[in-house]
Amino acid sequence: MKRTTDFLIIGSGIAGLSYALKVAERGAVTVVTKRSISETATNLAQGGIASVISQDDSFANHVKDTMVAGVHLSNSEIVKMVVESGPDAIKDLVDWGVQFTRNEDDSFDLHREGGHSHRRILHAKDLTGQEIERALVEAALAHPNITIHEHHIAIDLITAHKATGKVAGPDRCLGAYILDINDNDIITIGARFTVLATGGAGKVYLYTCNPDVATGDGVAMAYRAGATVSNMEFMQFHPTTLYHPHAKSFLISEAVRGEGAVLQRKDGTPFMEQYHQLKDLAPRDIVARAIDNEMKVHGDDCVFLDITHKGADFIHNHFPHISETCRTYGIDITTEPIPVVPAAHYLCGGVRIDGWGETDLPNLFAIGEVSCSGLHGANRLASNSLLEGVVYAERGARRCLERYSDCPQDFPAIPPWDSGNATDSDEEVVVAHNWDEIRRSMWNYVGIVRSNKRLVRALRRIKMIQEEITDYYWDFLITSDLIELRNITTVAELIVRCALERKESRGLHFNIDYPNVDDAHWKRDTVLHRPF
Ligand code: SIN
Repeated sequence: MKRTTDFLIIGSGIAGLSYALKVAERGAVTVVTKRSISETATNLAQGGIASVISQDDSFANHVKDTMVAGVHLSNSEIVKMVVESGPDAIKDLVDWGVQFTRNEDDSFDLHREGGHSHRRILHAKDLTGQEIERALVEAALAHPNITIHEHHIAIDLITAHKATGKVAGPDRCLGAYILDINDNDIITIGARFTVLATGGAGKVYLYTCNPDVATGDGVAMAYRAGATVSNMEFMQFHPTTLYHPHAKSFLISEAVRGEGAVLQRKDGTPFMEQYHQLKDLAPRDIVARAIDNEMKVHGDDCVFLDITHKGADFIHNHFPHISETCRTYGIDITTEPIPVVPAAHYLCGGVRIDGWGETDLPNLFAIGEVSCSGLHGANRLASNSLLEGVVYAERGARRCLERYSDCPQDFPAIPPWDSGNATDSDEEVVVAHNWDEIRRSMWNYVGIVRSNKRLVRALRRIKMIQEEITDYYWDFLITSDLIELRNITTVAELIVRCALERKESRGLHFNIDYPNVDDAHWKRDTVLHRPF
């Protein structure tokens, strides 16, 4: 089946839906999302969205905090632009119906999180992402120009070169091949503009607080299509996810530390002052490495986060979702410390974009976690990600609307997806085994603390799995499991290659073979160009 649209958006979190709402007046918008519409990382975000609101704060403070957290690898022009766009982004969200928690005088209640010098985190209790997603979904569903296809997963981007089989002249993105998961049908969608808003890739690691959809699809597809990818070594590990066999790395928001919670060993000794002068509010890379070290030195399975001193009323009022979820696992956080461990949380690298969200493959945009905009550098400052999603949605939309008339729908004949002689697989175990092996290898060899030897070992395994996947891919009919496996394997390869390239330790990338920051040689991005 073949369809055309003006704007094809892959992903339905804050970035995809904000962009959809910004362009919908102008043309037909098609959103494809691989599960139900709200099954996104946005929906799970607890902490909030950072913006300078308070009179005590300033744009300069927010810029400085972002640069320091990113260990001065962020692009200062981009940081300034995003920070200064914050108040307008908040206004857009409020106009779309988002209800942030307010004080009695109707001002926004502002939380504080690690690395922030001031209170500037707007939130909706501790379910900020759910509130944002609710409002955006309602607004998008109500718009007559926006069509949403749930349970549709993108397989690959379509480029002019691939469609025509000719590599002469500049390439551009023409749309994507999409698998309708329920009908098992592959649809070809041609679009003036294609927007990757696919989120992150936490599922590349064995332990992650990301939703199951976070398989790096956008990064993998963009790379295969010829777009440049950057800074993939910077995977952020959130320091505090619930340690419980059934909790699936449930996030304990950094706002809990922001409101005074203290990390302790199992005997109750606080330890963060030994690692950083900001103690429990040090940047995330430092807190995650400190916890990793504490667990290794003391042979413990977890550390503990204690907020009991704030009292039950305060805790229930500020963190209703966290306290209730912990209670279902038998932990009363008003009377006992919470067992926590780090888990993969946020990919700071991704598809390289310009200040308007466009990749170096013309007509392909990437917005939000899938992208590498220059905002996060070597480590993302907490709650800057939802902000980046809304700001780049607006800028990407503005750029597409300016170019709309110059970008006709004159697609060259796009060939339909060719399944060749593929048949139904009778060995699903191969896919399941490879999923597990990639995630385990990444956790063990490419985690919080790395070494050259472990990185090389991981790359060897990834290459072997890639060979198996390639054989499997062409022999058997495509399933969403296989598409995601192929994508996490590509993303794993890109993370390891960037990690091997960076011969220093900076922010989220810590390699014991090069334990120091090397500004003279490495105050620059790692860059991976098209594979052909
Ligand atoms: C959190 O609530 O700790 C997550 C916020 C973020 O990652 O920005």
